[in-house]
Amino acid sequence: MNKRDFLSLLDFSPEELEYLIRRGKQFRKMHAAGEVYQPLVGKTGIIILQMASTRTRVAFEAGMNQLGGHAIFLGTSDSQLGRGEPIADFARVVSEMVDIVMIRTASQEDIEELARHASIPIINAMSSRLHPCQLLADIQTFEELRGPIKGATVAFVGDGYNMCHSFINAARQWGFNLKMACPEGYQPDPQILQSTNNAQMVDSPGEAVAGADLVVTDVWSSMGHEGQEVDRKAIFAPYQVNESLLDRAADDALFMHCLPAHRGEEISETLFDDPRSVVWHEAGNRLHSQKALMEFLLLGPVDA
Ligand code: CP
Repeated sequence: MNKRDFLSLLDFSPEELEYLIRRGKQFRKMHAAGEVYQPLVGKTGIIILQMASTRTRVAFEAGMNQLGGHAIFLGTSDSQLGRGEPIADFARVVSEMVDIVMIRTASQEDIEELARHASIPIINAMSSRLHPCQLLADIQTFEELRGPIKGATVAFVGDGYNMCHSFINAARQWGFNLKMACPEGYQPDPQILQSTNNAQMVDSPGEAVAGADLVVTDVWSSMGHEGQEVDRKAIFAPYQVNESLLDRAADDALFMHCLPAHRGEEISETLFDDPRSVVWHEAGNRLHSQKALMEFLLLGPVDA
């Protein structure tokens, strides 16, 4: 089997992404039933996090363990990468020793360089450009609760950064309509935006959310924006997602947030208590979708 990487949603075909969603749903049911399934016995994975993480790390480590494999965590100062070891050298060395690597670092180019020089699968655990693993969990969540996302309308409100970019790629791959409201100067990369006709900028949060089946947002100051919080709070204030904005969406609309969240900023204090919010289900699906992804990259598709 040729090695595959998951650096972007565009690395997989729509059919492969559909398979991952089906398999993630199965993993959720197997987990709920307490089923033991350990196809990765003898496999080892490394998770490299150069920025903080709760969900991605726990999903990787718990997922590897539940599948019978072993997970190694490397923080910024745990490997020689932190002292300038070339990425290409690191890639060749770990390819001799382990089976899969998941990496979170600001630079998408560094992740791509790692993948180019490694002979084992590399997973993008989030860069400043993309967060493809989060989208697997989000699409799985929508389809579990509302059915196929193809043809649905999704509203993204807030910062046109890595989550917004990943939603644009998802709109392209899953065939849904994405409406985005982002402040001037904080809009998504035009190159990503122009890659699909399924995503359009609109003028206001109200216009984005009107009639939407799913409403999503993200923090106003992501990792890498440290020191900009005060300015951003003022600029983004009209982009808060709250109950009255959600009332403009479809009657059965869902609300998602990749987490962590800042209550009172990008969401109202009480939004997570609203029945339209499915953020805990969504967070749980980080585990199930990452298990589907790791299994696929290491063993290929199974009947699903
Ligand atoms: N959504 C997400 O990636 O969460 P973490 O930063 O906690 O991994």
